[in-house]
Amino acid sequence: MSFFLFQGNPFSVQFPLVQRFEKLFVEAFQQFKPEKKGQLFVSSFFSSFQRIYFLYSFTSELSSKLQRWVPNLKRIFLITSNTVDTSKSLSINSLTSFGRLDVICRCISAAFFLSNDFRKNVDIYIFFTINKRILHMDGSVVRGINPDERAIAGILKRVFQGLPVSGISFYNGELKDLISKYQPVILDVHGEVNQEFIRASHSFIIGDQVGYPKEFEEVFSVLKKISLGINEYLSSQTISIVNYILDQV
Ligand SMILES: C[S@@+](CC[C@H](N)C(=O)[O-])C[C@H]1O[C@@H](n2cnc3c(N)ncnc32)[C@H](O)[C@@H]1O
Repeated sequence: MSFFLFQGNPFSVQFPLVQRFEKLFVEAFQQFKPEKKGQLFVSSFFSSFQRIYFLYSFTSELSSKLQRWVPNLKRIFLITSNTVDTSKSLSINSLTSFGRLDVICRCISAAFFLSNDFRKNVDIYIFFTINKRILHMDGSVVRGINPDERAIAGILKRVFQGLPVSGISFYNGELKDLISKYQPVILDVHGEVNQEFIRASHSFIIGDQVGYPKEFEEVFSVLKKISLGINEYLSSQTISIVNYILDQV
């Protein structure tokens, strides 16, 4: 069995699918048991192609690991929240008292939950523009959350108060740093309708009920804008549709 590993190649910026496979192979190689690495033959060819490696495996272990990881490739949803003020003491009985926290709770529910399952391969980042704070939920670690909005708001309340919740971090940060790290696709009703592009991507940015903050227009200008069609969906519906499209891959 043989694999081709293209590392840091210049095409990956244009082709997110290449990025996905690069990441997959790099992770696969890193997690390969050290004692089995001797069975791998890794070589680089030609000085002009220094960044192209041909990775050959003659064991079945790598192939079984790859099959396990393919469905686990992380999906990243970055959500901008323009109206929630995280410094206020929120009430789970009124999720709209300090901005539209209901929108954020629905997005979290749509991103993580299936009817009877939890998507551990999802990571959510919510950028709160008022406070310049980032909330990160790592689906592979987060525990004890339910799909209903009030229950999710209860967890967010704890996090906003500075209490620890496993799998969730809350810190000062900049949206532009997340964007340069993940190079997300922008979901925008005015973008290009192209489901192939969505299928080949793994990180997405979604606006809240008021869309995207104007101050980020320049940062966004370098990203690909993709539309799901002429209907304007709720943020949470947009996430469900993307999850559905990626489920077909
Ligand atoms: C309710 S919409 C925002 C509406 C807001 N008035 C605006 O002008 O952006 C919430 C978010 O869902 C996503 N969205 C909604 N409909 C979409 C579509 N047809 N294609 C792609 N993304 C969409 C966008 O990310 C949008 O920012």
